[in-house]
Amino acid sequence: MHHDSPRPVISATGLYTPPESISNAELVASFNAWAQGENARNAAAIAAGEVEPIAPSSVEFIEKASGIKSRFVLSKDAILDPGRMCPALPARANEEISALAEIAVAAARDALARAGRDAGDVDAVLCAASNMQRAYPAMAVEVQDALGIGANRGGGFAFDMNVACSSATFAIQVAADFVRSGSARSVLIVNPEICSAHLNWRDRDSHFIFGDVATAILVEAADVAPAAHWDILGTRLKTEFSNNIRNNFGFLNRAEPPHEPGADGSTDRLFVQQGRKVFKEVVPMVARMIADELDRLDLAAPSLRRLWLHQANAGMNRLIAKSVLGHDASEDESPTVLDSYANTSSAGSIIAFHRHSDDLAPGDTGVICSFGAGYSAGCVTIRKVG
Ligand code: COA
Repeated sequence: MHHDSPRPVISATGLYTPPESISNAELVASFNAWAQGENARNAAAIAAGEVEPIAPSSVEFIEKASGIKSRFVLSKDAILDPGRMCPALPARANEEISALAEIAVAAARDALARAGRDAGDVDAVLCAASNMQRAYPAMAVEVQDALGIGANRGGGFAFDMNVACSSATFAIQVAADFVRSGSARSVLIVNPEICSAHLNWRDRDSHFIFGDVATAILVEAADVAPAAHWDILGTRLKTEFSNNIRNNFGFLNRAEPPHEPGADGSTDRLFVQQGRKVFKEVVPMVARMIADELDRLDLAAPSLRRLWLHQANAGMNRLIAKSVLGHDASEDESPTVLDSYANTSSAGSIIAFHRHSDDLAPGDTGVICSFGAGYSAGCVTIRKVG
């Protein structure tokens, strides 16, 4: 007798947006106040030609180069304080929920409510994000506990995974494979991204890039999913090693505070990138991946209703969408959320999907696509049902 394996679908997504946001004007004022102070402090060395003065940042550059106008953050005042310029997220007792788990749980509750799903009926949690707050216990297990995941199913399981900006799409493939194989029938993915804590707010080249957010995705077997859901037609993942986006923070160099130079003089224990190279190398890699996946699924580009692309740079998205669709994409075809959210790492394409998918009709097909450090890229082709 022939048994079809369960069909994985996306039942719902969820979003947690921090209450505070920082405009480019506020960000640049803070950076320039700090730079001015540093230049005054180093005036003699600068005059002697021993030290380069720190050049000011500019709102016009940020918006033109990236498309970012503001970003949501968990700790606005501390980030903008020129004497500090990093978030103040006080350590919590082990008995309290950790900051990363807290925002993951908020996004998860949104997704579970939208799906009408009792957390006790979910089998597994994947915490898929760029930065975990600690080594262990896994963030995902804390989220599982906070929500009561698996309580009606004889217990559940949870683990963390990190593929930087591509973490969410990679997790969707993992969850879909769990559903197909029968090892789970309902999988909650959370993408809590406290990017403000790995960004160097004193680096003019990148201080505008990131924001904080959390998203959640419920992947389930079609036979338990709500009537309105998204069929997962296919997933495709790709990685290719590159040092052009890198964060060297880790337990082997924990002794130095991230802003201070380490033993080797480097200050790269926060996010660093070669933005130009990333732009040039990742655009063709992603455009080719989406085109190959559409070929594999026998889908013609004109039949795509929407692209929900990773939100790093408006120019990158314009080029990728144009290459895939064969014409300049409208906001309707490739919506932008980075203007208000900035780059939120793995969460970006999921925010775009979450905020811009209600208007699609049954049968409409789209692609969620993420890309970033690794390099890594993942795309998930989905079709609206019900
Ligand atoms: N304010 C004013 N000017 C600035 C500035 C700032 N904050 N930061 C840099 N500049 C200047 C540079 O000094 C440079 O000046 P020069 O031409 O006199 O040397 C000029 O602006 C261009 O800098 P560059 O870094 O080449 O800009 P860019 O056009 O490549 O834009 C990024 C920078 C980061 C926005 C862009 O490269 C990008 O988004 N790349 C993709 C990154 C990405 O996707 N990363 C994934 C992370 S997960």
